[in-house]
Amino acid sequence: MTETLDTQSVRNYDIDALKRMDLAHHLHPFTDTKSLAKEGGSRVITRAEGCYLYDGDGNKMLDGMAGLWCVNVGYGRTELAETAYRQMMELPYYNTFFKTATPPPIELSAKISSLMGDEFNHIFYSNSGSEANDTVVRLVRTYWNLMDKPQKKTIISRWNAYHGSTVAGASLGGMKPMHKQSDLPIPGITHVMEPHWFNEAKPGESPEDFGKRAAFAIEQRIQELGPENVGAFIGEPIQGAGGVVIPPSTYWPEVQRICEKYDLLLIADEVICGFGRTGAWFGHQTLGIKPDIVPMAKGMSSGYLPISGTAVSDKVASVLIDKGGEFTHGYTYSGHPAACAVALRNIEIMEQEGLVEKVRDETGPYLAEAFASLNDHPLIGETRTLGLLGAAEICKDKETRQRFADVGKVGSICRDKIMNLNTIARACGDTMVVSPPLIIEKSEIDQLVGALRTALDQTAEEVTKQGL
Ligand SMILES: Cc1ncc(COP(=O)(O)O)c(C=O)c1O
Repeated sequence: MTETLDTQSVRNYDIDALKRMDLAHHLHPFTDTKSLAKEGGSRVITRAEGCYLYDGDGNKMLDGMAGLWCVNVGYGRTELAETAYRQMMELPYYNTFFKTATPPPIELSAKISSLMGDEFNHIFYSNSGSEANDTVVRLVRTYWNLMDKPQKKTIISRWNAYHGSTVAGASLGGMKPMHKQSDLPIPGITHVMEPHWFNEAKPGESPEDFGKRAAFAIEQRIQELGPENVGAFIGEPIQGAGGVVIPPSTYWPEVQRICEKYDLLLIADEVICGFGRTGAWFGHQTLGIKPDIVPMAKGMSSGYLPISGTAVSDKVASVLIDKGGEFTHGYTYSGHPAACAVALRNIEIMEQEGLVEKVRDETGPYLAEAFASLNDHPLIGETRTLGLLGAAEICKDKETRQRFADVGKVGSICRDKIMNLNTIARACGDTMVVSPPLIIEKSEIDQLVGALRTALDQTAEEVTKQGL
């Protein structure tokens, strides 16, 4: 590249004009546009570096969410920009349909296979986590058709799961407001309870007993529907958008046993957990799950370019390849050369800097300790972390785990308070969650969790003031 990238200089934006244009023309995802207008419009992020974002109003913010759980190597990586530039100059686009390939998706596929162990040797590319999960539905249906069990198609998922926003993604997901708004789920998808001890356990029920009960809900549903009609189970190793739900240790081994007993394909949605987030390359490796299909996205390119993949185990791939003929599925940008080149370079950076090991041995345990220190806060009923995923449950009564009446209200107050401290965390209902870049240092974890404590103190004052 001839010119060096100057990440410090920013274009001289007219932020107020941008905010007005944004309200006039831009329909945002997951946004109440009317309320956004009343609140004066969006916060416009103009640049970023490391773990920090800068907005057009002059604020510097610690990004405790790595964007949307994705900027694993942090912002401002010249190497990734240079990789995209070089690839775009050499070959900006060509497709992977009709007996054609380009070098980057070939190299990336081999690399990802090597990170996944012996049983995963094929990967199908899409552009988002949602499309990776649409591909899952196509694969599950195709697989059982090819196995001459065309009725074995129902997919079991969980309430409060998030698998994306396309029709198939939102149907697989268990977010009731999404279902209600768009007449979902589509037929052939059913939901069971989530393994969320804090929300769902009975009084006195241990996490271990609860984990078995939550897994048993899957077995019960299989028996109700008839095992001959159920083809797959999908779950995030740790539910992200559902509130960083880390299942009890008894849950996944039982799920695995049930999937094997009833011949279900096990799908681990690694869109958040993949690429180092849990202290291994994939969440299923951390949790000891043996999936058959693995959708992935986000940390794959650290969000620098859109890309996702669906890794297919040899068990499924061999059927698809040996018996399937043409797989009539694909996107114009499947295996986009620039996105694949950036993903490959992103993985190399993670390897060179030992980011997975850093999460496993250093920052993950440190985040766990820092979050545990919040347990003495009067609003916090439970904290949990795994790798660089953290959750703190806000509740009205710590002992009984009683929630505030209007779930989500106090969480939103806390989220706004922490934003005012120039720190980004997310509220999933009344659960405060973090998922920082994997490059975060211990001092920045102190800053993040310190801001969370201050925000919780301010939230407690507000709760008293409003009599909630
Ligand atoms: C587990 C999981 N699956 C799928 C998706 C959908 O990904 P995308 O927003 O890229 O479509 C997400 C997004 O947050 C996710 O967390």
